[in-house]
Amino acid sequence: MLSLNAVNTFYGKSHVLFDVSLEVRRGEIVALLGRNGVGKSTTLGTIMGLVPAHSGSIRFGETEILGRKPHQNAMAGLGFVPEERWIFPNLSVHQNLLMGIKPGYFKKTAGSGWTIERAYDSFPQLAERKDQLGGILSGGEKQMLTIVRTLLGNPELILIDEPTEGLAPIIVDRVNALIADINRQGLTVLLVEQNLQTCLRLAHRIYILSKGAVKWTGTPKDLEERKDIRKQYLEI
Ligand SMILES: Nc1ncnc2c1ncn2[C@@H]1O[C@H](COP(=O)(O)OP(=O)(O)OP(=O)(O)O)[C@@H](O)[C@H]1O
Ligand SMILES: [Mg+2]
Repeated sequence: MLSLNAVNTFYGKSHVLFDVSLEVRRGEIVALLGRNGVGKSTTLGTIMGLVPAHSGSIRFGETEILGRKPHQNAMAGLGFVPEERWIFPNLSVHQNLLMGIKPGYFKKTAGSGWTIERAYDSFPQLAERKDQLGGILSGGEKQMLTIVRTLLGNPELILIDEPTEGLAPIIVDRVNALIADINRQGLTVLLVEQNLQTCLRLAHRIYILSKGAVKWTGTPKDLEERKDIRKQYLEI
């Protein structure tokens, strides 16, 4: 569904991604793991078109998308949940959710058929808080709101950047359950995570980044057997 081939990205003169190649197949949860500052968010930003790639290829389905603008990628079926949990603090939860719905005159992507009614049915916590301002939600509720708002755009592939960062353990479990759930309902996921246990539990396949390059890839089971790899690239 998505494949990156030898992608290089710079911020000004600083070379950040080095020949990154990776693949996400339809129906998978693929996790991108690595320490702070190795280029995980830059990889998602480059896919989305928020950070321009210098060279390489990014194919989404049959289409080359490298060089496209973020809104073009969104309309083509890419959903993006950034690390910073962008919500509108002065809009209600309901209004925040409405912002996720793409205008009707755009092509409806295959997506997974999310509507606002289905969102409230599936996530009753949001229904209960429907008229409250986004700004007063807890961190976990904001994260849920951001993810569900993105679902309402009916993406075919969702890119999620460190969704559980800074959340209490019980909320972490809930957000992870949400991700597993939307995947079971048919959505393909590329997930950036720093938590190894979460990746081992949620992901079908894992890529490890270090210093802007892919250093290892395999299944959670493979990684459980590779203490050397975990020690070299993940432990602090
Ligand atoms: N807008 C920017 N301008 C210049 N350099 C940047 C910018 N954003 C990130 N960088 C640098 O690019 C490198 C990769 O950053 P990136 O945010 O992609 O890492 P990350 O793996 O997502 O880290 P974290 O786990 O802390 O979120 C880092 O050295 C970072 O300092
Ligand atoms: Mg990041």
